[in-house]
Amino acid sequence: MATNSSPPEPSADKLADRLFHDMIGALELFTVYLGERLGLYRALDRDGPATSAELAGRTGTAERYIREWLEHHAASGLLEVDDPAAGPLARRYRLPAAHVPVLADPDDIRYQAFNGVEIVRAGRWMAPLVEAFRTGDAPPALPWAPEGRAEYNRAVFLNLLGTQWLPAIPDVDQRLRREPPARVADLACGAGWSSIAMAQAYPKVRVDGFDLDPDVIAAASRNAGQAGVSGRVTFAVTDASGPGISGRFDLVTIFEGLHDMSRPVDALRAARGLLAPSGSVLIADELVADVFTAPASDLERYHYGWSVVACLPAAMGDPGTAATGAVMRPATLGRYAREAGFRNVEVLPLQTQTWRFYRLIP
Ligand SMILES: C[S@@+](CC[C@H](N)C(=O)[O-])C[C@H]1O[C@@H](n2cnc3c(N)ncnc32)[C@H](O)[C@@H]1O
Repeated sequence: MATNSSPPEPSADKLADRLFHDMIGALELFTVYLGERLGLYRALDRDGPATSAELAGRTGTAERYIREWLEHHAASGLLEVDDPAAGPLARRYRLPAAHVPVLADPDDIRYQAFNGVEIVRAGRWMAPLVEAFRTGDAPPALPWAPEGRAEYNRAVFLNLLGTQWLPAIPDVDQRLRREPPARVADLACGAGWSSIAMAQAYPKVRVDGFDLDPDVIAAASRNAGQAGVSGRVTFAVTDASGPGISGRFDLVTIFEGLHDMSRPVDALRAARGLLAPSGSVLIADELVADVFTAPASDLERYHYGWSVVACLPAAMGDPGTAATGAVMRPATLGRYAREAGFRNVEVLPLQTQTWRFYRLIP
């Protein structure tokens, strides 16, 4: 008989049922993609409940498509319908207030509609990834268009980085407030939201953001301009593991980027070389278990999922790759840091639902 700690007995029926439910979830994310891209959630939130014709009119879309989308969303509990028994064209649909932060408000830390964008973008890589599994190479880089990148970390950076995470590291927080103005290097900065958030929270600092991807750096520059911080935040297309960055920085950050780098040790060595006296290296990366376990938690399954379909493949083109993947355990990061010349790695008493924070001691 199974005990509490032993895995459940394998069952064909349960597995078939599980994959059926996974399919419902996958289809739901595709419909969330449509809602996000077409502005359907925002229109329902801003202008209130709508019939299919009204929502189509507000969003410049075709009524018949919108009617099916609304029916799906109401059937799935994502929207509410005033009278299910009314005729299809007469029914009026609303976005419940409790769903607004998750589906319609990209500024809220509970926003999740980006997951629709994420899964569609990842799906575009699947056919080339089949080939990459055979050759061991990286699949060709995904073009920026049509999705761009999903802005999965935008809201947490803008809401929490400068108000909770950095203030929880008192000496770093104080340095960022003091004269002479501190300099921050934000490696693998993506669309720049972490750099922008630090500049907004600390009015004296200068932030230099670096990323390999020219499209994401162009987006970062646009984002900084729109946020009104481009005087103190600049971005450059640079390999963080190469010699391309110069200067002395009081803080070097790598947010959810180290495991994506093909040469993480070189990047950490370069980061150490960039530090001003008393400078710090702060890393946030996936909150994974200390050791491999199976079956594992939902969070571990989530990180493994992204590792298989995106993070590991992205790092595979380089013949010298460390091939880390998203499941970078604390011991692996510790080894990388020691190989890069750091004396120690401190796990900070600070974590999010999905990240662990590390401070590297030179
Ligand atoms: C998961 S994204 C995180 C982006 C951003 N830090 C954030 O949290 O939104 C990882 C980023 O690492 C960048 N990257 C990977 N290898 C890099 C390298 N060697 N140098 C600079 N950036 C790199 C990728 O282009 C990508 O933008």
